[in-house]
Amino acid sequence: MSIPLTVLGIETTCDETAASLVERRAEGRGKILSNVVLSQTNEHAAFGGVVPEIAARAHVEVLDQIIARALADAGRRMSDIDAVAAAAGPGLIGGVLVGLTTAKAISLVTRKPLIAVNHLEAHALTARLTDGVPFPYCLFLASGGHTQILAVRGVGDYVLLGNTLDDAIGEAFDKTAKLLGLGYPGGPAVEREAARGNAKRFELPRPMYGRAEADFSLSGLKTALRLEAEKVAPLNDQDVADLCAAFQGAVVDVIKDRIRSGLRLFREQFGSPTALVAAGGVAANLEIRKTLHRRALEGGTVLVVPPVNLCTDNGAMIAWAGAERLALGLLDDLEFAARPRWPLEEVVGRKKVSSESAFA
Ligand code: KG4
Ligand code: ZN
Repeated sequence: MSIPLTVLGIETTCDETAASLVERRAEGRGKILSNVVLSQTNEHAAFGGVVPEIAARAHVEVLDQIIARALADAGRRMSDIDAVAAAAGPGLIGGVLVGLTTAKAISLVTRKPLIAVNHLEAHALTARLTDGVPFPYCLFLASGGHTQILAVRGVGDYVLLGNTLDDAIGEAFDKTAKLLGLGYPGGPAVEREAARGNAKRFELPRPMYGRAEADFSLSGLKTALRLEAEKVAPLNDQDVADLCAAFQGAVVDVIKDRIRSGLRLFREQFGSPTALVAAGGVAANLEIRKTLHRRALEGGTVLVVPPVNLCTDNGAMIAWAGAERLALGLLDDLEFAARPRWPLEEVVGRKKVSSESAFA
């Protein structure tokens, strides 16, 4: 196998069809050669959220072209890659099957190894691609489907320190947007409205605030917001902005407090983290970034947040996770089944097969 390693990554777990070529050099640093992302936002906008069947069909229609574009942008041919990686879960099963099956077909035809990547692991390892962050680090993973604080101790070595008991933060942003008629996706819309709102006009709870464990709970906040909105309905533009500001302010306070607990738990169990790393679409939010930055400083560590286009779903993170696994000889065979549910802690202790046995 050539050094540097070149991996094709495919992402189809939700509403982005994405492919990317990433290079991993001998010393472990990464370089993105191409990164093509096609968002299906328009296809789902009318429904106020992602419709799984529409998503799967849209992935089928464009994935071939997206992969061809990723190769062309990188100036490489399929024969130049060392492995093909696809997100094999967790996610919407129809979409996952499209990406994983395509990767298997490419693996079979080119006889290059297949790597079935956990989508959350890809988010978790992105900071190593962008900033070369060494293990162990404390990860705040906040997306549409997940809100977790984890100790990342190595590739395939994740310890859950905190989790949401109900909604994910991204989901809470999306539901708030829907309630206030701001459309989908909700996160950016709520952030925009919050910027011109008064966060003090409405009082909202801070669920789990002050608790020793590092768990989150968002559903009470969502209900409290709905009750406040009903009190002042019909809503004018200023009401909407003030409600968004109150919601975002409450989320920021909760994150600040929960990360404090998470960092403390990390230190108690694993010593000092090399960094506090943020990942997932919610890390695109500027107020949340500022809060994390302050929290990291107070906790005596640094904050690392990948650029926004690598925080939201993309193919480069899948290719990079594949490259990290390839470098360790962690390959998968063509029998690997897509997993709609696949918690990051379960990625531990995967079976190791040689590239020969993958094609036996
Ligand atoms: O990681 P991601 O792209 O996809 C998943 O794997 O879920 O995250 C998408 C989530 C959505 O819930 C979206 O509303 C949220 O991230 N998000 C934001 C912002 N941008 C995206 N939440 C808050 N503020 C933002 N600026
Ligand atoms: Zn994601």
